[in-house]
Amino acid sequence: MVNFDNLGFDVTKVNNNFQAIHDGTSWGEGDLKSDDDITISAFSTCLHYAQEVFEGLKAYKTKDGNIQVFRIEENAKRFRDSCKRALIPEVPETLFIDAVKKTVLANKEFIPPRETNGTLYIRPYALGIGYNLGLKPAKKYMFGVLVTPVGSYFESGINPAPFMITDLDRAAPRGTGHVKMGANYAAGLMPNRIAHEHGYADCIYLDSETHTRIDEVGAANFFGITKDGRFVTPSSPSILPSITRRSLMKLAEDKLGMPAECVEIELDDLNHLAEAGACGTAAVITPISKIDFKDKTFQFYSDTEVGPTTKKLYDLLTGIQFGDIEDPYGWITVL
Ligand code: PLP
Ligand code: COI
Repeated sequence: MVNFDNLGFDVTKVNNNFQAIHDGTSWGEGDLKSDDDITISAFSTCLHYAQEVFEGLKAYKTKDGNIQVFRIEENAKRFRDSCKRALIPEVPETLFIDAVKKTVLANKEFIPPRETNGTLYIRPYALGIGYNLGLKPAKKYMFGVLVTPVGSYFESGINPAPFMITDLDRAAPRGTGHVKMGANYAAGLMPNRIAHEHGYADCIYLDSETHTRIDEVGAANFFGITKDGRFVTPSSPSILPSITRRSLMKLAEDKLGMPAECVEIELDDLNHLAEAGACGTAAVITPISKIDFKDKTFQFYSDTEVGPTTKKLYDLLTGIQFGDIEDPYGWITVL
């Protein structure tokens, strides 16, 4: 029996993972492997030149024991776009979706029951492998899907957590911040460590061109609820286009009757926010209690309680994801 007590965001070994190889001509059909260790040349481009892309999505167990995934087509599309930017042969959406379904179903017993609030995190990835030395794309590639049961990404869960603005940059306006490439996350390791060492849940990046606007959180998008009742979130060329954020904007408009807008959020605009949060697949929604930057503190709804609009959005989003609420949008695929 798998133990789902105290699930955090760590790896639990499961039965199977999926692997497929591109030999320079086309993607093989791939199959399930019991071992998640891989053997690749140490000359691989993924190791030296970060020719690597990945995705993150989740499988949910409903009260009735069904297994379902959320907006898988969007992850498949984004993965294809990421491959394109990293010069990795595009993984067809059908291969991506079939591989995810196969891997989830091979690890059914690792999907936490509804009452735990846990999920099965799904991590598709693609790597440049083989023998390379100069800065050029690999001749061979691996596409894989890993899964593991998880709980909250940020320890606070749905309780508010403090964040700090870092003066380091993660991505440039014409760089790869909008692409889910491992390279972006390498740049984020140090600012994330600094934030943790100072007692913050994570850091928030400013736009790297002017350092005056909110860009995003290290592992999630940023959103706010203005004091006059709008859902706002940064418009920026260098942030990951979050599927969770897109879903929250739709829910805010349709279910809460709130305007939802991508806008430039200047530092001083934070003073107009009643509530703020971080959103993403791993983060779900984590309310932000306050943001510190140099000698300034921007304080939001509460240090200890989730704000009312953030809570409504959380209930709607997770209600659909876990199958407690009917999905009017076709976001759910039952496996
Ligand atoms: N921003 C970053 C840097 C992320 O790593 C993630 C996680 O995937 C997100 C935003 C949220 O994106 P999504 O909602 O598609 O998971
Ligand atoms: C996700 O939310 O799926 C991500 O990929 C973020 C990662 C840092 C865990």
